[in-house]
Amino acid sequence: MTPEIEPATAADAPAVIALWHACGLTRPWNDPASDFALALREAQSSVLVARGKGGLTGSAMVGFDGHRGWVYYLAVAPAARRSGLGRALMTAAERWLRERGAPKLQLMVRGDNTAALGFYEAFGLARQDVVVLGRFLAEEGDEL
Ligand SMILES: CC(C)(COP(=O)(O)OP(=O)(O)OC[C@H]1O[C@@H](n2cnc3c(N)ncnc32)[C@H](O)[C@@H]1OP(=O)(O)O)[C@@H](O)C(=O)NCCC(=O)NCCS
Repeated sequence: MTPEIEPATAADAPAVIALWHACGLTRPWNDPASDFALALREAQSSVLVARGKGGLTGSAMVGFDGHRGWVYYLAVAPAARRSGLGRALMTAAERWLRERGAPKLQLMVRGDNTAALGFYEAFGLARQDVVVLGRFLAEEGDEL
């Protein structure tokens, strides 16, 4: 059965954040609550969620920066894995980005996340020979 995948609403925040924790996607330097709120606040980003009988089973954050389409926080609840939900979420993310005119989907994966790398390879994503550089822009006391 095709899972229901739709944009999250603000009311989904606690369940989405719990899912990200359960899937090992949170890091001390990222505040998941502000990541979620920021993605819902902007018109060119969203968090797509899959709803199962028992609650939220999956998520994919999507965003189009005007040049590339990005996917973050792809997560499938441990009990719901290997049944095609990750693939369905990525397909929904691709559709969301295509509808906004994004010419390419890309994402970042930690190099030691072999499960995700296996998943993305199976989904047909190719490795890109790039180094990702970055730094945080928020000053202390800033509200995101
Ligand atoms: C990666 C993740 C989203 C995959 O979700 P899923 O619902 O289990 O994936 P699917 O059932 O759609 O898998 C589709 C195909 O991907 C491949 N795949 C999935 N999980 C895999 C794994 N752990 N190792 C290798 N290949 C995998 C398989 O080819 C699979 O097809 P099959 O089950 O018929 O063999 C899930 O494991 C997860 O939430 N992981 C923790 C969070 C995470 O690391 N997210 C990515 C951050 S960049």
